[in-house]
Amino acid sequence: MSGGKHDAIAADSGPVTDHEYDGIREYDNPTPGWWKWVFGASIVFSVLYAVFFHASVYGWTVQDVWARQQTAYYKQVFGAVGELKTDEGTILSQMSNPEFMDVARATFVANCAACHKRDGGGDVGVNLCDDSYKNVEKVEDLFKVITDGAANGAMPSWKTRLSSNERVILAAYVASLRGTTPAAGKVAEGKVIAPWPKAPAPGAK
Ligand code: HEC
Repeated sequence: MSGGKHDAIAADSGPVTDHEYDGIREYDNPTPGWWKWVFGASIVFSVLYAVFFHASVYGWTVQDVWARQQTAYYKQVFGAVGELKTDEGTILSQMSNPEFMDVARATFVANCAACHKRDGGGDVGVNLCDDSYKNVEKVEDLFKVITDGAANGAMPSWKTRLSSNERVILAAYVASLRGTTPAAGKVAEGKVIAPWPKAPAPGAK
């Protein structure tokens, strides 16, 4: 259509499409070619992406990357010590190994805090900061409980989910929680046990 009061504007800004609705008309301004290409390419990419990451065996997930990096990290951290013993002396001496206690704290937060709270104060799981224990009399019992679980699985077994070294340093970490003050400690359960023995002198096995 032509004529009418819009022609002046139309003349300013290029061709006008040939439809008109209630007196409103439109410039013929198609999106540029490069824009259409980007649009089309992003659709193609999204299909390839979805197939590659969600439907093929070649894709990977952030969990895979994390697991790979964690394994590499543990190899590096534990590489020098090999397989730690699981006895009292080893567990006690790991309590004063700051690097391993950092690893153990992260492992605790990731796997144990859901039931025991980040600070060990207890929730579903028991308070690990007080002097009372249900399944523990000696420091090596911490390793046993972590390995085999307790109360018919209410405390799960970590034997297949954490390496022996991880369980040793976790036992040491849990031992070190004793005597700390959690934000909201659960009421003591079990019975009061003797203090941990002193750690052996460094180098002693
Ligand atoms: C699903 C909940 C849950 C998770 C996760 C959990 N625990 Fe427990 N834990 C419990 C419960 C419940 C008990 C008490 C068992 C009982 O009543 O004998 C317990 C007991 C323990 C005990 C013995 C305490 C005592 O008084 O005898 C230790 C040590 C312990 N947990 C350490 C850990 C560590 C380390 C982890 C992480 C690797 C962990 N727990 C993860 C629920 C959990």
